[in-house]
Amino acid sequence: MSSHFIIECLDCGHKTPYFPTSISCPKCESVWREARYDYANLSRSLPLQLPSRPFDIWRYRELLPVRSPNPDLSLGEGGTPLIRAVNLGMMLGCSNIYIKDERQGPTNSFKDRQAAITIAALKEAGITEMVVASTGNVAISYSAYAARAGIKLWAFLTSLVPGAKMREVALYGTQVVKITGSYDQAKQVAAEFARQRGLFLDQGARTVPAIEAMKTIAFEITEQLTAHLGPPSGGAPGQRPTTHWRVPDWYIQSVSGGMGPLGVIKGFSEMKAMGMVDRVPRFGMIQADGCSPMVQAWKQNLDIAEPVRSPKTLIATLATGDPGRTYTILRQRIQTESGGEFESVTDEEAFRAMHFLAKMEGISVEPASAVAFAGLVKLVRAGQIKPTDVVVINCTGHTLPIERTVLGTGWARNVVLPQETGTEVPEEGLLSALSKIAVDRFPRIVIADDNPDVRRLIRRILQSQGNYTLFEASDGKEAIRIAQKEHPDLIILDLMMPEMDGFSVLDSLQAEPETMDIPVIVVTAKELTPEEKTRLQGHIQSLMQKGDFMSDELLDEVRALIR
Ligand SMILES: Cc1ncc(COP(=O)(O)O)c(C=O)c1O
Ligand SMILES: [Zn+2]
Repeated sequence: MSSHFIIECLDCGHKTPYFPTSISCPKCESVWREARYDYANLSRSLPLQLPSRPFDIWRYRELLPVRSPNPDLSLGEGGTPLIRAVNLGMMLGCSNIYIKDERQGPTNSFKDRQAAITIAALKEAGITEMVVASTGNVAISYSAYAARAGIKLWAFLTSLVPGAKMREVALYGTQVVKITGSYDQAKQVAAEFARQRGLFLDQGARTVPAIEAMKTIAFEITEQLTAHLGPPSGGAPGQRPTTHWRVPDWYIQSVSGGMGPLGVIKGFSEMKAMGMVDRVPRFGMIQADGCSPMVQAWKQNLDIAEPVRSPKTLIATLATGDPGRTYTILRQRIQTESGGEFESVTDEEAFRAMHFLAKMEGISVEPASAVAFAGLVKLVRAGQIKPTDVVVINCTGHTLPIERTVLGTGWARNVVLPQETGTEVPEEGLLSALSKIAVDRFPRIVIADDNPDVRRLIRRILQSQGNYTLFEASDGKEAIRIAQKEHPDLIILDLMMPEMDGFSVLDSLQAEPETMDIPVIVVTAKELTPEEKTRLQGHIQSLMQKGDFMSDELLDEVRALIR
């Protein structure tokens, strides 16, 4: 398939077309690969195109790994404001502090970029069900976009994730699996679950679209800073400037697994490669003291981070104990392309930053974002950030609790691992724990409707709030065939279908002993005549009018009939 980009292996340099489901290099099997574009051409064409495009993530579509962006999946991602932090700047004695307000993404964190691009790419590749492990925000974001894309999501969250976040994930119709253990353990369990069930597993920082999504933060910052401060003055007097856009002196972000900064630094580097900026900013990477493997390694000048097995921070979002190779790549890029610093702050410093940011700037952030602001204070106090430096801090996420009463109970499955502190989970323990997540046989439901959009809607209603094995029939004959073969627990039946309509399907079901007892819900757009109503009486359990029922009403009927 022709494409505007290719994938290059970071280990052997082998180049291949991109398929989201193929996760390693066909030549050397490395899982570390990145997208490459036609930078020479884009350096000429992109600056001409951008001024007429809306300010959202898709304005950079030629630099994103999605072949045909689908506006129906969009929630208005990207294009977040760059806000001057006047009061914070005054307190710190720095006049050029800017906040990239990623709280204003559709689910209130910068992970919306990752979700929008990754889910778009996976949808394009035909993925319908997938597994993700998360410290909270990725699961929330993926859940929102998966809902739009009709992708069933299993989210493995550590029990440290605040209940309000778990409930938000569940609200979107994702199956929450709560792991009593560390985030690194949750990742292991998720991977095993995906392997057993043959489901697509999100690859974290090795996910090509995720890195590509994050780099748009760099593109936006340079455009916005240029608007705020004017283009950089470049070159000798009388010479035309060689660059068009302004970069900050520092870019600061809190770090867990490191995907964000890895993407952002790629963004700045690509702009440099296209001649749009003259340099990459220094990177200030901030971790929580109780889980700071990258900071420890950086300070000791090590290329590989020693994993933190038992994170000791209340800030669960940042509790990646083992950053793996992400750290090594990030360190190498920061050293060669920009310079910078890795620093850590205490939970208490972060909580204090939460207060001052809210009180002084009117910006309420989650503790994980506050870590970056506490880091800013530390770097300014240490003299690393100079008073005249232009600094951009990524304000990665908002705090938004979901009330307990909204969801009621029963929205999560619990997996209690045999060893809470160990790194290895014994296999039988894991298997028996996993067997509690999902029973082998889910209730089986046939959705019979000739309209694919209606089937998709009903499928989505069912998969978002329960676990069912679903079969789709696009006409009456197919519905009968599936009913005879699969022995479903329920049939959701349209009345007006070509070939064989719903009334005939009911007659046929009634005529056979093995199908006569299957409950039927009729969902129809048809205004029924009194005769038709009589005809249905005694043969169906429930009648619902298309366009006049809410998802939970259908679900209540389904649950009542299947029980
Ligand atoms: C609000 C917030 N800030 C920072 C981070 C750290 O992200 P990264 O994966 O880029 O290290 C996360 C990760 O989930 C997050 O949700
Ligand atoms: Zn390779």
